[in-house]
Amino acid sequence: MIRIAVFASGTGSNYEQIMLYLKDNPEIKVEVALVVSDKLDAGVLDKAASWQTPVYITKVKDHPTKKHYEEAILHQLHNHNIEYLVLAGYMRLIGATILMAYPGKIINIHPSLLPAFPGIDAVGQALAARVNETGVTIHFVDEGMDTGPIIVQETVPVSPIDTHESLSTKIHTLEHKLFPRIVCAVATQEVVLDNSEVIWQAKQ
Ligand code: GRF
Repeated sequence: MIRIAVFASGTGSNYEQIMLYLKDNPEIKVEVALVVSDKLDAGVLDKAASWQTPVYITKVKDHPTKKHYEEAILHQLHNHNIEYLVLAGYMRLIGATILMAYPGKIINIHPSLLPAFPGIDAVGQALAARVNETGVTIHFVDEGMDTGPIIVQETVPVSPIDTHESLSTKIHTLEHKLFPRIVCAVATQEVVLDNSEVIWQAKQ
């Protein structure tokens, strides 16, 4: 089994979709072995409890520096033999400590067509910009904010009557379809990062 950790600060609907996908595809030897959260009241924690995924919760402000915070997380990742990190609504930048420990092994999902609308509230940014399409990006993580080599992007049309809620729902629906497949493709090395280049290779 390839052991992955999901990092989440929010409701965790993407985490749940990964769990459902793995349950429906038992031939894929990937396991979510840890959920990491920086929020004590994140919805993802209830979902993790019902799937019996171990959780590690720690807040940045409980550590003297971000480096100490990340070292504490790293310790847990190593204890749980985690090989890949999946950011699913984790509202912090991954710092050098974790990046260096998992080179090319961290992915993120973002609700826009990057490089458009990075950072918080990408849906609100897209509505404010009155674009007629936005979308979802899944990418390898580097030291930037929602930068890093792109694995996949798909578009979502924006209609003039879309609200924040309706557009978020459309984006989530697409995320739920895309993310579990890509998580597994990364964890099984069907897609790898090689010299900052995303390479798809034959299934191992
Ligand atoms: C998703 O829209 C994801 O793109 C963004 O945060 C949101 C997390 O949603 N990074 P959920 O907690 O998985 O429902």
